[in-house]
Amino acid sequence: MRETLSRARAYEESEDVGRNPTDNPTIGDVIAARLGRRDILKGALGVAAIAATVSPLALAAASKANAENANRFRFDEVEAGVDQNHHVAAGYDADVLIRWGDPVMPGAPAFDPMKQTAAAQRQQFGYNCDFIGYFPMPGAANPSDHGLLTVNHEYTTEELMFPGLRRQDVKGILFAEMTADLVNVEMAAHGGAVIEVRRENGKWQVVGNSKYARRIDASTPMEITGPAAGHARLQTSADPSGRRVLGMLNNCAGGVTPWGTWLTCEENFHGYFHGKLSDTQPEARNYKRYGVPANWYAWGKFHDRFDVNKEPNEANRFGWIVEIDPFDPNAVPKKRTALGRAKHEGAAGIINSDGRYVVYSGDDERFDYVYRFVTTARVDRANPQANRDILDDGVLSVARYNADGTVDWLPLVQGQALLTPENGFSSQADVVIEMRRAADLLGATKMDRPEDVEANPATQNVYVLLTNNSRRKPDQVDAANPRADNRFGHIIEMIPPGGDHAAEKFRWEMLVRCGDPTVADVGATFSTDTSRNGWFGMPDNVAFDSQGRTWIGTDGNSKSRTGRADGLWGVETEGPRRGTSRHFYRVPVGAELCGPCFTPDDETLFVAVQHPAEGQSAGQPSSFEEPVTRWPDFKPDMPPRPSVVAITKRGGGKIAS
Ligand code: FEO
Ligand code: CA
Ligand code: CA
Ligand code: CA
Repeated sequence: MRETLSRARAYEESEDVGRNPTDNPTIGDVIAARLGRRDILKGALGVAAIAATVSPLALAAASKANAENANRFRFDEVEAGVDQNHHVAAGYDADVLIRWGDPVMPGAPAFDPMKQTAAAQRQQFGYNCDFIGYFPMPGAANPSDHGLLTVNHEYTTEELMFPGLRRQDVKGILFAEMTADLVNVEMAAHGGAVIEVRRENGKWQVVGNSKYARRIDASTPMEITGPAAGHARLQTSADPSGRRVLGMLNNCAGGVTPWGTWLTCEENFHGYFHGKLSDTQPEARNYKRYGVPANWYAWGKFHDRFDVNKEPNEANRFGWIVEIDPFDPNAVPKKRTALGRAKHEGAAGIINSDGRYVVYSGDDERFDYVYRFVTTARVDRANPQANRDILDDGVLSVARYNADGTVDWLPLVQGQALLTPENGFSSQADVVIEMRRAADLLGATKMDRPEDVEANPATQNVYVLLTNNSRRKPDQVDAANPRADNRFGHIIEMIPPGGDHAAEKFRWEMLVRCGDPTVADVGATFSTDTSRNGWFGMPDNVAFDSQGRTWIGTDGNSKSRTGRADGLWGVETEGPRRGTSRHFYRVPVGAELCGPCFTPDDETLFVAVQHPAEGQSAGQPSSFEEPVTRWPDFKPDMPPRPSVVAITKRGGGKIAS
């Protein structure tokens, strides 16, 4: 294995980045009570455990499913494997819609990988596309044929983007040869994009010169709202108000609200900060808990605000959930601090039965937590404008998974429990800025890297995707994180009582422990109906189609780890086929599958193919000059390009039906 590290992998392998220092229960004692540690350690739970923990809802649905004898995912599986191309199930087309460097803004210059500039990149599609939101165009004859796509641009991969760079670690700074010009290209390749898309004669196209077109990047002016807005800990020399910040960073997954806005989540923000933290720094305890500064990027060499020694509060202005109105290209994005500061994978919401809006979010770090936010106000369905600032006021809480199969939502409210001035929480601003430390004090359950957390509107059940945690020791396993050295991740199902997403207590079940079910030591629990192509590791994103079916995207499969590329799988959640998975689409070598998103009619599935050819993900050397794939162009003078792909059924019809 070579030494070079991709950004994602550097994060994965880095030591003690924002490590959870507490001894909060991992419920190690509880697992023994509930499932028996010896069985877990032997990986002997299998199908019996699924049967023992199957939810009443699933049992209720079982007879119905039996009657239909239902495989709900009707397609011929794609073969699991790894090569230079992407592959979709037979009878479907997977068409590249937009690639890194393609025009977004009217008049954007043509992409020239040998002469990149920040000015050009600011008008072009950014790098490493992740979350995709689809917003039907108001008044469209067919809302599934015309709309806006909002796409996150999570991070940049220098050795694949720029000629002549070789990844090297010089005193903790990767890419010592990065110049100010290249850094500015990188900053312009971050953020997000809004594009107008239309389907004509069955094929999707980006609408040129759209009045909605927008690029958001690491320099876009944004407003800070909610309890931390204006707080002294958010004030900087460039912004004494503590209310105005430039840009958003490492936006991974996200959500779409029923009032028509895009929620886009800052994940590994710590990687952009530079310098050396001293224990006398006022934010030292806070920054240590988040791994700031991580020195992944050279930005701090050229922009003082990313140097924690020069601008000690700037890092408090990142790690938020950002709300953007995609239909107003001049709308100022808002960082909604009421939802807390973390390495937010995503933010998926649902209108509760009483009308309040509930947002779930995972904090993607080993041994970190699952969060929930419940608005104070009810969603006004008749007047979307009335909901514009609804996310500024509500109750934030964190999950504790108990061995008896219940979940307690512990309120992160200043003045309650241990969240007092004596512990450094003098206001709700302190609680949201240091959400992790607040959750530590409450005894939340340390999870195996929580990625998407999302409710299925058809069943109200909430799915928690836990991607992996190679550092969990045998004495740290618990009911909700039952495997030591959890290399392949698992998926938990939470059941709100009577569909009440604001309840203090939920129930939870294990949906599936991932990995190869034919290898006993792995302890995977896919159903026996799952084919050799159907299982996966490292679940990351979840999407539900309008029929309530559950689709899982992955990040971290590879030839050496699972003998397969990342991709998209359809997973049964109800009835006797619960835990059966089928492989629909796979991405090229080195890539991960992100952003699965259906049009309302289920006829189109948009996906983001992120970091194709990334060396560490591929498990082999890769560079601009010699990438392991040149997907999607396969031209000798064109580097691999992260892209959005539109998948449709040949001849029309709903996906997988
Ligand atoms: Fe950006 Fe948690 O994956
Ligand atoms: Ca990603
Ligand atoms: Ca992700
Ligand atoms: Ca991931």
